[in-house]
Amino acid sequence: MSQLLITNCSQLATLAGPARPRVSHELREVAAIADGAMLVRDGRIAAVGSRADIEPLAEKTRKSVLTINAGGRLVTPGFVDAHTHLVFAGNRADEFEMRCAGATYQEIAAQGGGIRSTVRKTRAASEEDLNAAATRYARWFLESGTTTVEAKSGYGLTVEDELKILRVIRQVGMTTALRTVPTFLGAHEIPSEYAGRADDYVGLIVDEMLPLVAREKLAEFCDIFCEAKVFNLDQARRVFTAANQHGLGLRMHADQFTAFGASELAAEMGAKTCDHLEQTSAASMEKLMQAGVQPVLLPGSVYAIGSQKYPAARAMIDAGLAVVLATDFNPGSSPVSSMRMVMSLACTQMKMTPAETLVAATVNAAYSLNRGHEIGSLETGKVADFVVHDAEDYRELPYFFGDSRAAMVFTNGISFSA
Ligand code: NIG
Ligand code: FE
Repeated sequence: MSQLLITNCSQLATLAGPARPRVSHELREVAAIADGAMLVRDGRIAAVGSRADIEPLAEKTRKSVLTINAGGRLVTPGFVDAHTHLVFAGNRADEFEMRCAGATYQEIAAQGGGIRSTVRKTRAASEEDLNAAATRYARWFLESGTTTVEAKSGYGLTVEDELKILRVIRQVGMTTALRTVPTFLGAHEIPSEYAGRADDYVGLIVDEMLPLVAREKLAEFCDIFCEAKVFNLDQARRVFTAANQHGLGLRMHADQFTAFGASELAAEMGAKTCDHLEQTSAASMEKLMQAGVQPVLLPGSVYAIGSQKYPAARAMIDAGLAVVLATDFNPGSSPVSSMRMVMSLACTQMKMTPAETLVAATVNAAYSLNRGHEIGSLETGKVADFVVHDAEDYRELPYFFGDSRAAMVFTNGISFSA
């Protein structure tokens, strides 16, 4: 039996709370224990509390206990990033430069750049190349305190290339300390060989890709980019209906640039999350609420494409939605792996409180991935995924921005070192 005592924590932000995602005022309940400590046994949390309560417990066990002195610093659960495009080849620093000179994200996409340019490079890359790239990014996530990521396919857009990406996602989850939750996003873009034949491509997704993905258990969720000039509502309905039949949960890129009923459809079809939501109306928020859909807000992508229109987080919280924050890590609209940067943007641009952002980045995100019972908070019985930050108070996490490196990161009670 291996035991670990983590002690001398200025604050132990447990994020303990109801056994469901937090809404409205509950989003502000961080449950921070001053001068806290935590006992970990065999990779799981055995006890959490004040130092005075926990240290004697460790002494009593008589078994050897490895003690980690947090040095009077803040300890939180590892961040759970519920929306990333982890696996891709190359990057798009060239398009970034074009955007700095005034071109828009959508103009670049219309000229064959954007998602399609990453698709060309990703198709040409071997599984080994992609694994090496994703392993490098996994290290970035871990170094900034993220211990779980949802990771989407979507830069292959052929049967073989989509499966290749999903295998890499699984591989990264097995060979690095980062947990990965796989999502099939074959409906990310219409590949150029299907230009003008989007319905045929949807046929390929429904008839060939989804059955294989499900048979090989390569994904837990299915996502679609429902947007003008990409996939319309009928196509989204077809993909979601098939995904449902194969037992996959549903997530949707909805209302990013245009609102034409995507989030309403997600609500109607019982999606787990609706992501982006920059253009979502109050009426649609109400429908998401009624259907229990969690909004996943991605302010990093708003910032990086140079838009001013952030999602209306306050209205969503007022509507009772269980808000999640995520990076949307990808080579185009959101090349950011730091959840602290996202929390900072959520505070300054969307007027969320520091406490709300921490809940949205941990426990609410865990629930959106069907893992609320395992990760996302520091509670007895949960997996010991936690972070020692170079900070004393949780409000410093979004306050100091730009450098997000964590002091120590643990998954399964084991220390990660780069
Ligand atoms: O979530 N919106 C669509 N997909 C990604 C962008 C992917 C890319 O630009 O490569 C997003 O923003
Ligand atoms: Fe995305």
